[in-house]
Amino acid sequence: MDERVIGRSGQWASVIGLGTWQLGADWGDVDDKEALTVLETAAESGVTFFDTADVYGDGRSEETIASFLRGRPDLHVLVATKMGRRVEQIPQNYVLDNFRAWNDRSRRNLGVDRVDLVQLHCPPTPVYSSDEVFDALDTLVAEGRAAAYGVSVETCAQALTAIARPNVASVQIILNPFRMKPLREVLPAAREAGVGIIARVPLASGLLSGKYTKDTVFAADDHRTFNRHGEAFDQGETFSGVDYDSGVEAAAEFAALAPEGYTPAQLALRWIVEQDGVTTVIPGARSPEQARANAAAAKLPPLPAHTFAAIRELYDRRIRDQVEHRW
Ligand SMILES: NC(=O)c1ccc[n+]([C@@H]2O[C@H](COP(=O)([O-])OP(=O)(O)OC[C@H]3O[C@@H](n4cnc5c(N)ncnc54)[C@H](OP(=O)(O)O)[C@@H]3O)[C@@H](O)[C@H]2O)c1
Repeated sequence: MDERVIGRSGQWASVIGLGTWQLGADWGDVDDKEALTVLETAAESGVTFFDTADVYGDGRSEETIASFLRGRPDLHVLVATKMGRRVEQIPQNYVLDNFRAWNDRSRRNLGVDRVDLVQLHCPPTPVYSSDEVFDALDTLVAEGRAAAYGVSVETCAQALTAIARPNVASVQIILNPFRMKPLREVLPAAREAGVGIIARVPLASGLLSGKYTKDTVFAADDHRTFNRHGEAFDQGETFSGVDYDSGVEAAAEFAALAPEGYTPAQLALRWIVEQDGVTTVIPGARSPEQARANAAAAKLPPLPAHTFAAIRELYDRRIRDQVEHRW
């Protein structure tokens, strides 16, 4: 699979990576064996970038990745983790002592001396404007605890503030055919500054696969049940912040735009991969079949211009007004 450099980190990632929130099994059931098979299938399909977080399964996702990579010393996979969400979300918690403690735990879980890429995990907005925070992150790198750092953000404004910091290597942001605002300013700014873009929630939590109906019932412990209106964390993380019923209707229209040989999910991934400035896309996969199909999108032919135009028209007509004022 093609690889691209993650901005200032100088490290390389496959254009399609793997999101591993699912492997923490915070929501839905993915047992240990299935989780290892998802990682194995992704790696065998050419994926060289895994995104995880200390909070996914309270460390289970990191530990599963470590266990997989221990058994496959032949593989070179870049692992990006995140920190900051195991404590109360107040700026006062974003200090060097906490960073060191959080990093110690991630390094233990991942079984490494140095984390490849550590990302602040959607911190409160004032954190982005704090020189002390970024000095502390520089210290983590100077101490050899992390090769590079980035931020995972909720809004375009947060992304632009982070990109202006000199040593931020990457910005992780929601970008998909139902979340286009980052194309306007964030991607150009990232390109200009040499900051990598990690596109998350690329399938709008699965909506863009076109497989759900208005009657689909998600498990009680699935955020697609309990966070539809932002009850537990930012609403934008669930279905990209799109109202479910109208999202299902828009997803049916989106699915009809898939060229022959593409599934709707692959159309969404391909659309993202082809945006100038994107480094890697990290679909979450609950099964090996999903991991394989998602990786395969990297090898599909480029999309025709009329498909880009039709996706834009759909977004403008059905989605833009729901999301652009918030994120
Ligand atoms: N704040 C943050 O930094 C943050 C927040 C959210 C996510 N993330 C990262 O981004 C990654 C991706 O986000 P996400 O997993 O929430 O959303 P996503 O990638 O948009 O959607 C994942 C869901 O899509 C469905 N799916 C996946 N591949 C499919 C395929 N080939 N065909 C049909 N359906 C498919 C599955 O749904 P079913 O389960 O219904 O099968 C899967 O659970 C996460 O794993 C995590 O690493 C970071």
